[in-house]
Amino acid sequence: MKNAQSILINIEDLSLSASNELKSCTNLNNLEDWRIKFLGRNGELSELMKVMKDISQEDKRIIGPKLNQLKNSLVDLFENAKKINNQTQNHEEGFDITLPGRNLTYGSLHPTTLIVREICESFKSMGFQIYEGNEIETEKYNFDLLNIPDDHPARDQWDTIWLDLKNPNDKYLLRTHTSPMQARIMEENIPPIRVVVPGKCYRYEATDATHEWEFHQIEGLAIDKNISFSELKGTLYQMARKIFGSDQKVRFRCDFFPFVEPGVDMSILWEGKWIEILGAGMVHPKVLNGVGYDPEKYSGFAFGIGPERVSMLKNKIKDIRNFHANDLRFLSQFIN
Ligand code: DAH
Repeated sequence: MKNAQSILINIEDLSLSASNELKSCTNLNNLEDWRIKFLGRNGELSELMKVMKDISQEDKRIIGPKLNQLKNSLVDLFENAKKINNQTQNHEEGFDITLPGRNLTYGSLHPTTLIVREICESFKSMGFQIYEGNEIETEKYNFDLLNIPDDHPARDQWDTIWLDLKNPNDKYLLRTHTSPMQARIMEENIPPIRVVVPGKCYRYEATDATHEWEFHQIEGLAIDKNISFSELKGTLYQMARKIFGSDQKVRFRCDFFPFVEPGVDMSILWEGKWIEILGAGMVHPKVLNGVGYDPEKYSGFAFGIGPERVSMLKNKIKDIRNFHANDLRFLSQFIN
């Protein structure tokens, strides 16, 4: 019969040799061998435990807990070693769980959205409401009600994208400008009207650095009693100063658009040159008549701005096609 003292020494020895041998386990295979050797069913711990049946009741009370402690510490040693092994293995495979996480990249607003909002905001501060309209239009709103006659070049098949929607009463197209919203808004509202209408337009044309077949416009319309040309000038001048800076110079020149009379274009003085940024004019009496307004009672002005062109000036963008090219090298310059 063994005495308690020598069993305690055996326990101590086993604990030492187990932890020593564990140090040389470098992969899961030899870790498993270690487990079988020390913790396995016929392993050294089981072997040592067999003494329990041969010792006195008194010794059992000393040895029992010690054996349990040994077992727990061997299991702990094994579990820890396995964990560390997993981590280093991940590390070797290029996955370092100790590295901080990657930052999420955030989306941002498209440069067109930014300039459209900026321009609309400048009109909002002057009391204009923001309106949106449909991109599929009828011939009536896109042309007829805007006093654009049948033989006008804008109706040419070359710059209009007609849609093949079968309806005997109307011809459909992708709107070539946002101006059709002038008539729709006048029909739906009673003056005073002050609105800006941002939206997409489409034209059947070849693209180059300054022309796209798909682009944006911001239409503007103000209708009331006694609106004069000076209100047109003052409003657009104020917009230019808000967008380009408080000392921005503008120039109005006569221009022709069938739906206004008189018609003008407005240019801004930019880097020493006059650059045209919008068309405008006093709403034509025929347009007012067309929607049932009395031109003797109401007058107003309208304008149309190309926001991409404005953004190109402000941001020194050389090619309008960048706006639709979906190139992140371009878009990420506008992260706001
Ligand atoms: N719709 C015109 C175009 O696409 C732009 C325009 C000019 C709009 C004069 C207007 C205006 O409202 O008064 O070229």
